[in-house]
Amino acid sequence: MVWTSRPVSRLQGIIRAPGDKSCSHRALIMGGIASGTSHFSGLLEGDDVLRTGAAMAALGAEVTQTGPGLWQVTGTGERGLASPAAPLDFGNSGTGSRLMMGLMAGYELSAELCGDASLSARPMNRILAPLRLMGLTDTAKPDGRLPFRLTSTRALKAITYAPPQASAQVKSAILLAGLNAQGTTIIEEAKPTRDHTERMLRGFGVEIGVMRGAGQARTISLVGGQRLSAIEAAIPGDPSSAAFLIAAGLISPDGNVMVEGVMSNPTRSGFFDLAELMGARLGAEDTDDAAGERLIDIQSGSAALIGRSVPERLVPAMIDEFPILAVLAAFATGTTIVTGAEELRVKETDRVKAVVDMLRANGVEAEEREDGFAVQGCGGPPPGGGLVETRHDHRIAMSALVMGTASQKPVSVDDVSMIATSYPDFLGHMAALGADISDS
Ligand code: S3P
Repeated sequence: MVWTSRPVSRLQGIIRAPGDKSCSHRALIMGGIASGTSHFSGLLEGDDVLRTGAAMAALGAEVTQTGPGLWQVTGTGERGLASPAAPLDFGNSGTGSRLMMGLMAGYELSAELCGDASLSARPMNRILAPLRLMGLTDTAKPDGRLPFRLTSTRALKAITYAPPQASAQVKSAILLAGLNAQGTTIIEEAKPTRDHTERMLRGFGVEIGVMRGAGQARTISLVGGQRLSAIEAAIPGDPSSAAFLIAAGLISPDGNVMVEGVMSNPTRSGFFDLAELMGARLGAEDTDDAAGERLIDIQSGSAALIGRSVPERLVPAMIDEFPILAVLAAFATGTTIVTGAEELRVKETDRVKAVVDMLRANGVEAEEREDGFAVQGCGGPPPGGGLVETRHDHRIAMSALVMGTASQKPVSVDDVSMIATSYPDFLGHMAALGADISDS
């Protein structure tokens, strides 16, 4: 169903950031194998995360919702995970499916994995290749696409691995497998990716080494055979979801948006750093800590933005924010150029293509690059008036709707249902700020 976002003269208000998607997946996964019962508050109840919870339950953990955002997870501990009775359906979730592949590799079990059309088109060999080196077997065809069956005999060997892509999902899958491997699993990361797995494993009592190398390189090491103990944790707010609200405040003619409780982690802050390079002034105030992460309140208001070449060192720390960055670039003066972001080609959809098509449909000049894109800013509100094909990508849908709040003409999207995978309260939060978004 088509939804339309109409331009409004002001966007103002205070919103509490929803729970971080990456941390929510990890909390359910680690809680599900720990000894004892973990309690989580502020867990993101998006479809992707709920599917990870259902998968952990199918493998033997007890996963119970005790209130809004409140979850109790009793892990399988010494008993370990067992083969599920039915296929595990990960829906749209790359993170859930990939991290769980690594986790399952460490237990004596066999499981059929599947997902929706978008997930079934995404590359899984990046995960299967290192897990096969560790001892996992699978029925994947050479293209490595879902569905397939994984079988593990639990006799995993630790490996030393340098992932060819800058991917936290690859790193995390190997580390989770490494928990039950013989020897020390070592990951050599050329560019640092989000480090929530390392931080949360420590929270569950696992010793994990992180050594800085030359430039941005890091070496992460984990000795196999360590056990996790249950924790109590509040899930920090999601900077990737907050980015949509912060961007809405920046492009609004009269914007004043505060997002509270956002996780401040250098492996996730690229979008905010870049927005400041483009001329935004973001107020940030330290508040609290949650699950070993720092929290801040971020404030944004109307800004005259300037196009920039995105420094490649920021790319992994804003890998999910390029669709909303493209919206800022459309309002900016001058050209914004993204390079070194070839991973965008294998997200929920080909995000290079989807972003360029979103902008062009709304009268903005943009072009694809092999590893990124370029946007010719309009130096103010872009024309708008387009219907954006979302291709089942939540972040394309949210970006287009944010663009419509301040374009010259309304912006429509062909679907909003998939927004629930990562940010079920998005439309409610935008309405609370004063956006005019409806299904017409
Ligand atoms: C995620 C890692 C990133 C990101 C995804 C969440 C994670 O994927 O795009 O939304 O939670 O580890 P890659 O590891 O493929 O870059």
